[in-house]
Amino acid sequence: MRWLFLLAVTLAVFARAQNDGIGDSLNISFQVTSGGNDNYFLRDNVTAAQLLLTSASNASTVLRRLVVALPAGNSGALTYFLPINATDNTTSLSISLVNDTLHSTTREFNNAGIEVDFIFSSNASLGVTIIGAVRAMRDYVEGNGTMHDIFNYTLDSYNSSFVRLHRKWINTTLGDPPGTFRGADLYLSIPSNSSAQFSVTNNTWAPTVDILVPAGPSSGIVRIAVVTNETSLAGLKPQSLFLANATSGNEGLQTTLQGLANGSSEPAKQVSFLTYTDKFTAGGWRFLTYFGRDSMIALRLLMPTLTSEAIESVLGAVIERANSTGALCHEETIGDYASFINIQDNQSHLGNQPFYDYKMIDTDLLLLPAMAHYFLELPQGQGRAKQFLARNATLQNGTYAEILTRTVLYNYARALPFAQNATYGNLLGLRPGQPVGDWRDSNQGLGYGFYPFDVNTALVPSSLRATQALLDASVLSNTSLNATEVGDIAGVWEGHTPKLFEVRVDASTAQQRLEDFVVRANLSKSLLNQTGSSARGNEVAFYALSLKMDGTPVEVLNSDMSFNLVYGSNVSQVFLQHAVDALQPYPKGLLTNIGMVVSNPAYDSNRTNIDVLNRAAYHGTVIWSFQQGLMASGLARQLSLCIATNEVPTAHFALALSEPPAWCADDAFVQSLKDAQSRLWTAIEGACSEINTEVWSYSFNNESNTFEVADLASLSPDGTESDAIQLWSYGFLGIIDPHGNRTIDS
Ligand SMILES: *[C@@H]1O[C@H](CO)[C@@H](O)[C@H](O)[C@H]1NC(C)=O
Ligand SMILES: *[C@@H]1O[C@H](CO)[C@@H](O)[C@H](O)[C@H]1NC(C)=O
Ligand SMILES: *[C@@H]1O[C@H](CO)[C@@H](O)[C@H](O)[C@H]1NC(C)=O
Ligand SMILES: *[C@@H]1O[C@H](CO)[C@@H](O)[C@H](O)[C@H]1NC(C)=O
Ligand SMILES: *[C@@H]1O[C@H](CO)[C@@H](O)[C@H](O)[C@H]1NC(C)=O
Ligand SMILES: *[C@@H]1O[C@H](CO)[C@@H](O)[C@H](O)[C@H]1NC(C)=O
Ligand SMILES: *[C@@H]1O[C@H](CO)[C@@H](O)[C@H](O)[C@H]1NC(C)=O
Ligand SMILES: *[C@@H]1O[C@H](CO)[C@@H](O)[C@H](O)[C@H]1NC(C)=O
Ligand SMILES: *[C@@H]1O[C@H](CO)[C@@H](O)[C@H](O)[C@H]1NC(C)=O
Ligand SMILES: *[C@@H]1O[C@H](CO)[C@@H](O)[C@H](O)[C@H]1NC(C)=O
Ligand SMILES: *[C@@H]1O[C@H](CO)[C@@H](O)[C@H](O)[C@H]1NC(C)=O
Ligand SMILES: *[C@@H]1O[C@H](CO)[C@@H](O)[C@H](O)[C@H]1NC(C)=O
Repeated sequence: MRWLFLLAVTLAVFARAQNDGIGDSLNISFQVTSGGNDNYFLRDNVTAAQLLLTSASNASTVLRRLVVALPAGNSGALTYFLPINATDNTTSLSISLVNDTLHSTTREFNNAGIEVDFIFSSNASLGVTIIGAVRAMRDYVEGNGTMHDIFNYTLDSYNSSFVRLHRKWINTTLGDPPGTFRGADLYLSIPSNSSAQFSVTNNTWAPTVDILVPAGPSSGIVRIAVVTNETSLAGLKPQSLFLANATSGNEGLQTTLQGLANGSSEPAKQVSFLTYTDKFTAGGWRFLTYFGRDSMIALRLLMPTLTSEAIESVLGAVIERANSTGALCHEETIGDYASFINIQDNQSHLGNQPFYDYKMIDTDLLLLPAMAHYFLELPQGQGRAKQFLARNATLQNGTYAEILTRTVLYNYARALPFAQNATYGNLLGLRPGQPVGDWRDSNQGLGYGFYPFDVNTALVPSSLRATQALLDASVLSNTSLNATEVGDIAGVWEGHTPKLFEVRVDASTAQQRLEDFVVRANLSKSLLNQTGSSARGNEVAFYALSLKMDGTPVEVLNSDMSFNLVYGSNVSQVFLQHAVDALQPYPKGLLTNIGMVVSNPAYDSNRTNIDVLNRAAYHGTVIWSFQQGLMASGLARQLSLCIATNEVPTAHFALALSEPPAWCADDAFVQSLKDAQSRLWTAIEGACSEINTEVWSYSFNNESNTFEVADLASLSPDGTESDAIQLWSYGFLGIIDPHGNRTIDS
């Protein structure tokens, strides 16, 4: 017995030492293949970078695209390689990364980035190339090939084995420190084990750069480096990001924490790549910078598993970027693109000072619920409020407490009119001149509505309830607000808003619309024979996506009830019933065998929305991982209000209610919620391989009558592509699959 015990201890110590090595290190490297691209990620003490290359096996295009994106200044490079002399379609160009050659590199003047070797199968020519701002790269990829001359690079120097393309930032007179400027470079060179050559012509505009590859096995190797002297960010290693162990006896939490802090879980390493000591970034390659909404929703889902350092990184980043009115920043623009935006805004005197965007109406409402959850409900937030709020901001003047007070008062003032007169005109609408305002931030996303459902039914009351709780706990002190009064206002919003969005369709009309929908959406009528019904009595009832400016509902069934389930207090049985009814097989409900769609226009009397929100639309009948996470987390939270957590495992901490909600006594109803939860997880498990990505679509298989994962970029006319890793999709690390699977690791 004794030796066995000793062996076990020795092994455990060994395993811990090994694992601590991973979790304790800033160094991260991993690879993700998604959407026809190979993505390579690297972070060390020099740089953090994502490199994307069209997969060698991707035959859908002859173009080979290379993207390098660095969180430093949100900078990088985009370039396309084209086969030379491809007059027919037989000349295919294959480019692959040479294993183990990707590493960080430095150049003079504090330039840092990555260097890597590629092997070219045949002659290639450098196509469209953008060096510098990732936002300029996105404009080209997502905006029909938009290029701004102001971002043109110059051919700095070249010979047959070396090419340097240099992008000098727009603003060379105002720098940080003043008088300096920054830039980015794309270097191409020939390593000694290669006999490739460059043939370069310096035209007055873009140079021609050809890569000539003699016949021979590994003759076509080209070394590429992308560097910038924007400041690299300090990363959070897994051990600094995740708690090592639950500080309470929460078994669910203990389960979710396995493999996170020690970095042995692959997704834990991946999400760590997106996190830094002074902000979290939203996703790669397109969003490797601050986004308020993404940070705070991811935070909410992951928070029970996170350290104080990590949580305060997100909260601090949001507070630092608040404006003087108290609105919170949606997206920051930094680096070269900030100069461009400032010039567009006739503010060129600001040089390259960051531009903060305040157009969204949901972001302002996510901070207080996050803070209340942290300081009042989670063990790691206990006793931290005073010290945190006393911090001096670095991006603006004032303490965190002072800045936060502005946000509290701003949100309170915006909630007052509806509390006085609960009509739709007093709801929160989009900001003047903005077609977007919540997470469905495309023009079509809200069905061209003006008052979003999530903002008004879930986020306004939740922000007020959080304010009330923080006032009660004296965390917020320097406001004139009265906790009880704030609670009363929250009650009005909770009680009156859902009804304004309720859509009722009689059962026979609903059936006709479903039958019409499957034809228009090229689906099969047999989908309507699946068991499960969204009809209740003689009607189908659900909550609209949004209200139009005249108060009429946009009759699109959607997944945004997830916000109420996660953020809401006093969620009613009627509301939960709508959630159960929505979690039915698509197109009656939202669930396909490869996940939950975020919109379903089948019942809409406005049939044009079937096209507006189709499977190629960014917020159409497509699947967003974080929405599934929010729904799953929300159902677990609601069930945990009345069921012992050992029966419904959850990593959640909720304020104990003085008594369970009334619906807990209705066993059949509780069972229907559990069944809905189970159906949701079956759908989620159907596309585990996609779970860390941003969004995916479907193709419908007419023979099997099932849905298959489809890449949105190849369906979407404007090329909206999905990020391979997306911060809020990792919310699943904080959620337990009630079927007992560790979904996120699959
Ligand atoms: C980065 O880490 C390496 C070892 O992994 C070390 O040799 C080097 O000095 C470090 N560089 C800096 C700038 O800290
Ligand atoms: C491409 O074709 C042209 C015309 O046939 C030829 O002159 C040129 O050398 C070819 N270039 C390469 C790189 O093969
Ligand atoms: C090459 O393929 C494209 C798209 O598949 C097609 O439109 C084009 O006609 C083809 N060109 C030749 C020369 O076959
Ligand atoms: C590179 O690594 C992959 C798997 O990691 C392997 O399949 C492939 O053969 C390797 N390629 C080379 C050229 O070694
Ligand atoms: C791209 O161009 C097409 C046709 O001109 C237009 O309908 C579409 O809105 C454009 N997309 C973007 C993202 O600008
Ligand atoms: C920028 O480059 C494009 C070609 O990519 C060229 O047409 C344009 O004239 C250039 N503009 C300037 C200002 O150099
Ligand atoms: C290439 O041409 C451009 C524009 O004439 C010029 O600014 C640049 O210095 C030239 N590069 C080299 C290496 O000669
Ligand atoms: C950034 O690098 C460029 C060369 O690429 C150099 O000219 C410039 O002075 C550097 N700026 C700083 C602030 O180091
Ligand atoms: C984690 O905490 C539990 C009790 O909360 C304790 O039994 C266990 O030993 C701890 N594990 C580690 C590795 O510290
Ligand atoms: C750069 O910033 C300076 C200093 O504020 C400003 O005067 C100048 O117009 C800016 N230059 C450009 C090209 O934006
Ligand atoms: C802060 O942002 C809000 C929302 O966009 C705006 O209404 C307000 O005017 C901004 N405040 C300032 C001082 O610019
Ligand atoms: C904040 O700055 C003030 C001076 O402006 C200083 O007195 C105070 O100690 C600072 N607080 C913290 C927490 O650093």
